Amino acid sequence: MLKLPQHIAIIMDGNGRWAKDKGKLRIFGHHNGVLSVRDVVEGAVELGVKYLTLYTFSSENWNRPKLEVMVIMELMVSTIHKEIETFMKNNVRLNAIGDLDMLPPKCHRELLNAIDKTSVNTGLVLTLALSYSSRREILQAVKSIAGKVQKGELNIEDIDENTFENNLYTSGMPNPELLIRTSGEYRISNYLLWQIAYAELYFTSKLWPDFRKEDLYEAILDYQKRERRFGLTSEQVN
Ligand code: FPP
Repeated sequence: MLKLPQHIAIIMDGNGRWAKDKGKLRIFGHHNGVLSVRDVVEGAVELGVKYLTLYTFSSENWNRPKLEVMVIMELMVSTIHKEIETFMKNNVRLNAIGDLDMLPPKCHRELLNAIDKTSVNTGLVLTLALSYSSRREILQAVKSIAGKVQKGELNIEDIDENTFENNLYTSGMPNPELLIRTSGEYRISNYLLWQIAYAELYFTSKLWPDFRKEDLYEAILDYQKRERRFGLTSEQVN
């Protein structure tokens, strides 16, 4: 049987260009990007994917024009608010990773409220990477581990990959087996650098607002055709 990835991570890119192509403001692209998020989440639920992690807002995105940042935050508040009911119906548990304290208070509150309400759900874990920087996540893990060593709670010799993973924001989650990036860019952009060590990478030229569940299925089919060897030979894995 062909294997379904347990964890899919997506870099949603191209909202601005999509809007520009239509002669509209970038904000129009973000509004339509939300429709893609809805459809892709629904697709992941239908397939039975366990974890879906969406790069929603990077630490670098704070440097965008103030108005655009404000609109994205407002859009997030209203989307999360509207979607809670659907999350409950679809057994989706909302989660967030990143420097969440940087979010505007209203946005932070709405997010924590939705995370709390959906915490009883046992289906898809939908993680939003918000104000997220993978390097910062790694630094934060280093500091936390160093703190434990300093306090005498941990020996340096005992630090292994598990120790490290347990100190990342994604602690407790399996690593993504498939990473999708839209909009024809071939970059990782400071996203889940540790976690994607063995992930299959899938790039599509589609802009995010044009990406639908059928495109997710196509990415998964492509993933299923690949041979994952983890450094072994073809003969060893077959
Ligand atoms: C990337 O396109 C998109 C973003 C940085 C924002 C993504 C946010 C949403 C789709 C809203 C999601 C809301 C929820 C609740 C998940 P871009 O602006 O970088 O496009 P460009 O590369 O063409 O400029």
